[in-house]
Amino acid sequence: SRKVIIDSDTASDDTLAILLASRFFDLVGVTVVAGNVKFENQVRNALFTLEYIGRADIPVYLGQDRPILNRWRTVEEVHGINGMGGWVFPDPNKRPEKESAVDAIIRMSKEYSGDLEILAVSPLTNLALAYLRDPSIVKRIRKVWIMGGAFTKGNTTPIAEFNFWVDPEATKIVLESGMDITIVPWETTEKYGTLDQNFWETVKGLGTKLSQFFVNANRTLLDFSLSQGNSGSVHPDSLTVYLAYDQSAILRKERRRVDIELCSESRGAMLVDWYKSGNENADLVLEADSRKFRDQVTSILSSF
Ligand code: BDR
Ligand code: CA
Repeated sequence: SRKVIIDSDTASDDTLAILLASRFFDLVGVTVVAGNVKFENQVRNALFTLEYIGRADIPVYLGQDRPILNRWRTVEEVHGINGMGGWVFPDPNKRPEKESAVDAIIRMSKEYSGDLEILAVSPLTNLALAYLRDPSIVKRIRKVWIMGGAFTKGNTTPIAEFNFWVDPEATKIVLESGMDITIVPWETTEKYGTLDQNFWETVKGLGTKLSQFFVNANRTLLDFSLSQGNSGSVHPDSLTVYLAYDQSAILRKERRRVDIELCSESRGAMLVDWYKSGNENADLVLEADSRKFRDQVTSILSSF
């Protein structure tokens, strides 16, 4: 099966994305990167998630604990104080690897040359640094799936999505690297990756270990999403992992030139050239099958 690394700022929806990736792919590593909440909490969340879902065998690598320019803020209001909806859970026994995330990405790009895919559901700092250290990873990494970017409705500033906003310089480096990139932008995830109140009722009734995990880890995300006018909790990372797995659920994508704004107020905005052709660098996912996504999540949360 497909060899995949998930690059994650592990909090709430990232944990569901990790669970999905562990079911869909041969998940060869989780690399943690600065983003959602305090770095130590993200590491703890990743270790605990893998232990809880019975996959303590999957290694966790520590990545960059700050973006390239070290200017960002964490978003505990979205994910809860520890990134897990405030859920008080025991310390995991599992430990992170000694090897760094950047080294692990470069090493595995050689070990699984031509096969390795990266699911980046976080700021792109680890991937950008791996590329700067060894640009030849471009020809060895099969594909990069990125959750990030907004071109009309930013969730962090009026025009910027969180992952792109946290590390716009890293985003620019990755976008210009020549890697085979598919982007699932914020607008698509908000529209097709929202799990509504009916879904929540169903999941609460499942009574499985995994449904309990989902509810605990995502309750702050649900409250936050509702407060933003969404009909349920928004799951950008999980939708991205699902679409990487079942590409028949991608209902519309366009190959476009994508860039990022690095300056002042509009820093982090995704710039899409909707007209010119000839210098495209990414596939942009614009429509997806939200029913298939929801059914797949329900079936996995029912499974144990
Ligand atoms: C992205 O930002 C983070 O808060 C989420 O984990 C997701 O990756 C959404 O903008
Ligand atoms: Ca994330």
